[in-house]
Amino acid sequence: MQSPVVLATRVLGKAVPALHVNPALARSVPSTVSPVGPSLGLSADGVRSVRAVDRSLEVIWNDGRSHAFPLIWLRDNCDCPRCLHPDTQERTFDLLTVPETPRVASAGLTGQGTVMVLWGDDGHTSKYESGWLRRYAFESPGDDPIRPDAVLWDASLSGRVPRFDYGHVMDSERELGAWLSTLLSHGIAVVADTPGRDREVVRVAERIAYARRSNFGEHFEVRVEPNPINNAYTALKLQNHTDLCNWERPPGYQFLHCLENTATGGDSTLVDGFRAAEALHRADVDAFHVLSATPVLFRFHDTGCDLRFRAPIIGLDGSGRFEQIRFNFGLFGVQALPPDETAALYAAYRKFARLVRDDRYQIRFKLEPGDLLTFDNWRVLHGRLAYQPSTGRRHLQGCYVDRDEILSRLRTSLSAVTDAA
Ligand code: OGA
Ligand code: ZN
Ligand code: ZN
Repeated sequence: MQSPVVLATRVLGKAVPALHVNPALARSVPSTVSPVGPSLGLSADGVRSVRAVDRSLEVIWNDGRSHAFPLIWLRDNCDCPRCLHPDTQERTFDLLTVPETPRVASAGLTGQGTVMVLWGDDGHTSKYESGWLRRYAFESPGDDPIRPDAVLWDASLSGRVPRFDYGHVMDSERELGAWLSTLLSHGIAVVADTPGRDREVVRVAERIAYARRSNFGEHFEVRVEPNPINNAYTALKLQNHTDLCNWERPPGYQFLHCLENTATGGDSTLVDGFRAAEALHRADVDAFHVLSATPVLFRFHDTGCDLRFRAPIIGLDGSGRFEQIRFNFGLFGVQALPPDETAALYAAYRKFARLVRDDRYQIRFKLEPGDLLTFDNWRVLHGRLAYQPSTGRRHLQGCYVDRDEILSRLRTSLSAVTDAA
């Protein structure tokens, strides 16, 4: 159910699924359970007893709480070196070598209070620490702890876009984590005082992992080009849009590093697409439904490529939460729908288009040299005002980083900070 995106806040139409709170929490200890193995009796979270019941192993802790762990789950999660490779930390256990309900020959506790199971089918022994079992019984650690709720924003974010210092981000795991965490929650941040070096934007991406290459290269130059292959490479105004929405999986994040910005105009505009979509839902639920249910064609082509994908403009996950906005006039393909659906699509699309440029939701500012603007390309739409190349120079370098890499690096930075503490 967990979407690849970050959202826990905004739910439209459907109920949010409850967290995996375990019903065993409320259960009292059955009187039939008798302790096995040596009694620990000391810490409340030590295991008092275990017994196989049906398809589960029932574990009772000293504080009286209990939980039934499915046997197949326990067998699959044996972490001995024969089941979990000690170097790769990947599973080597073959799930199909045991029956769907593995047989327990015996189960008990070691002197240290570790649960031991001797399996009847293959004579294998597995050990489970009581703290590890307790976490899975009561804390639902399967939920990724690093995914903060989305904090939706509007024009009131003006002048308050979160800023991080380049030097700190590059040197400190803690500051790196703070920046990435903000990218997940707010979907926008500026890394300030980024040195004006060629391809520095890629080096910052490499502080996380690596830049995601596209048909525009590993990085791209945003400036007036003599024969532009992309509207961004002109001095034209760009309406707020998401990049590469003609791809099956558009890049998760976009980085734009300002090297020069002396030309008149060229201010950046940004809008939280989830906030705008929420406004559409409030104003016209039918239009919202059209945009979240109608796959539309997006396309980019030049002499070397013809990249097309069909997907809704407002993408929701299986729980009805915002997942991904695809919005780009330049990449909107020639739609081939029945006339009435075409008319309804355009009506809804135009409503949403008004909202994503509405001054109530949009922020606007001029990038300064050294500003590295970073944002969630599945959520935040970006644009710029037209500029006058005769009045000065405007040059940005951009690249993309995917969400997997942002999440992974945030997890490793948090472990690094915790380990150092
Ligand atoms: C882009 C883009 C915005 C700008 O390169 O994708 O939208 O400020 N650029 O030039
Ligand atoms: Zn094992
Ligand atoms: Zn763009």
